[in-house]
Amino acid sequence: MSLLELTDVTRSVVLPDDRVLHILRGVTVAVDAGEHVAIVGRSGTGKSTLLNILGLLDAPTTGEYLLEGVPIQRLSSRTRTVRRGRDFGFVFQQFNLLPGRTALENVTAPLLYARGKQFWARTRLAAEMLDRVGLGDRLETMPEKLSGGEQQRVAIARALVRGPRVILADEPTGALDVETGGEVMDLLDDIASQTGAALVTITHDLAVAARAERQYRLAEGVLVPITLDTGSHWVGDVPTQVADRGGAIERRVLPGTPTSTDDDVQGVHA
Ligand SMILES: Nc1ncnc2c1ncn2[C@@H]1O[C@H](COP(=O)(O)OP(=O)(O)OP(=O)(O)O)[C@@H](O)[C@H]1O
Ligand SMILES: [Mg+2]
Repeated sequence: MSLLELTDVTRSVVLPDDRVLHILRGVTVAVDAGEHVAIVGRSGTGKSTLLNILGLLDAPTTGEYLLEGVPIQRLSSRTRTVRRGRDFGFVFQQFNLLPGRTALENVTAPLLYARGKQFWARTRLAAEMLDRVGLGDRLETMPEKLSGGEQQRVAIARALVRGPRVILADEPTGALDVETGGEVMDLLDDIASQTGAALVTITHDLAVAARAERQYRLAEGVLVPITLDTGSHWVGDVPTQVADRGGAIERRVLPGTPTSTDDDVQGVHA
């Protein structure tokens, strides 16, 4: 049994003019404990919508979502809220830290809703988590005084302080330079594998996605498995590998991606 399992999930919304927008069109994917899965796709293809569904912030229009084998429709709204806080840790591109609150207060915040031991030990747990992300000496610093990479590390500490089973990261390196982004991903990978949490990373950055064990591309609401490596780059909106053969550059569309056309190669899209 997988930790998370989506089968033929769709998500549509009715627009103000009564047209129906089909954001996700039959997404099937399973994620196991301890796995790192990456999803790439251009803007507006439904990546955040999918992540929100996985994190119980949104619900499928049709299709099935099994959380540890249990259909989420069967959970009461109260249970869903409890499981969202306990089982999921969210990391966003813009960090979303509370301004005017210290790093320690930011990381303590999710524990204010915890029960029992976690609640009573909240300050110690938050301090330990900040230490783990390398910010043990910045507990009392305000987020606005920290660099982008440090702010993202506070956000990671906040996402992980309750020991989630799943980490959902939406463009976690999107606001960081390449090197800092790499360090943040190292940290996420390390902590996820140490704690056995599943990690789902959404990113435009193919080098970031290539670190995951499995990769998918979301294109107009359809999720397709792809294979990325360190040489992968975007050609238009298709992830592609460049193989250097005796000086000649050969472009090869990755298995599982829709066939590239001349238009794609030129970066022109309908
Ligand atoms: N509640 C909603 N009502 C209307 N349209 C919506 C709603 N939620 C999402 N959309 C639309 O669905 C599409 C997918 O949105 P989503 O945020 O999932 O894209 P994304 O792949 O995360 O894009 P980006 O890379 O820019 O973050 C967009 O066109 C968005 O405007
Ligand atoms: Mg998004």
